[in-house]
Amino acid sequence: MHSHIQKILLNHTSIIERVQHLAGEITHDYEGKDFTIVALMKGSVMFLADLLRFIPIPLRLETINVASYHGGTESSGVLTFKNSHLPDIKDRHILLVDDILESGVTLKTVGDRLLEEGALSLRSCVLLHKNVKTTQDVIADYIGFEIPDEFVVGYGLDYCELYRNLPDIGVLSKEAIKNC
Ligand code: IMP
Ligand code: MG
Repeated sequence: MHSHIQKILLNHTSIIERVQHLAGEITHDYEGKDFTIVALMKGSVMFLADLLRFIPIPLRLETINVASYHGGTESSGVLTFKNSHLPDIKDRHILLVDDILESGVTLKTVGDRLLEEGALSLRSCVLLHKNVKTTQDVIADYIGFEIPDEFVVGYGLDYCELYRNLPDIGVLSKEAIKNC
């Protein structure tokens, strides 16, 4: 275990099992529909890669780069789009994929934007749902795991851009939290 991880919440094997199950539900729901996955970078990178491997039906893939944490362990509440152009998703069925749903600001802001850009339908899929009161009226259609209100890293999730490469998801130790 990495010395900065206080405890492992979800190990890689259980993550993969759950991702495979989610992919099965998505495959069932989108069978015969031309659909596009829009993944939020960089946090969803590992989840996305594993999810895609388990969806055997045709799909398109787009990514959007966003940031909301700006260096801390508390969301700033303000979402920044880092792309100069958003993908063309007009008249497409969209499945928005992100690593974690916390306040809901990210899914709400991006979702509203995709609808403004002409998405035909919109659903969302997150690997983790943090057990906090969402400030937005938003819930994901596909959820991997419910987790307690702790700051987690690994399997794509970062703190100060570190720990994304860890295969498991764990709680970051207090000592590892510094200004970045
Ligand atoms: P929301 O906008 O408050 O729902 O937060 C979602 C975004 O915050 C996610 O896309 C993550 O990038 C980030 N985030 C929220 N909680 C955590 C965490 O525990 N670890 C790492 N990133 C997190
Ligand atoms: Mg994110």
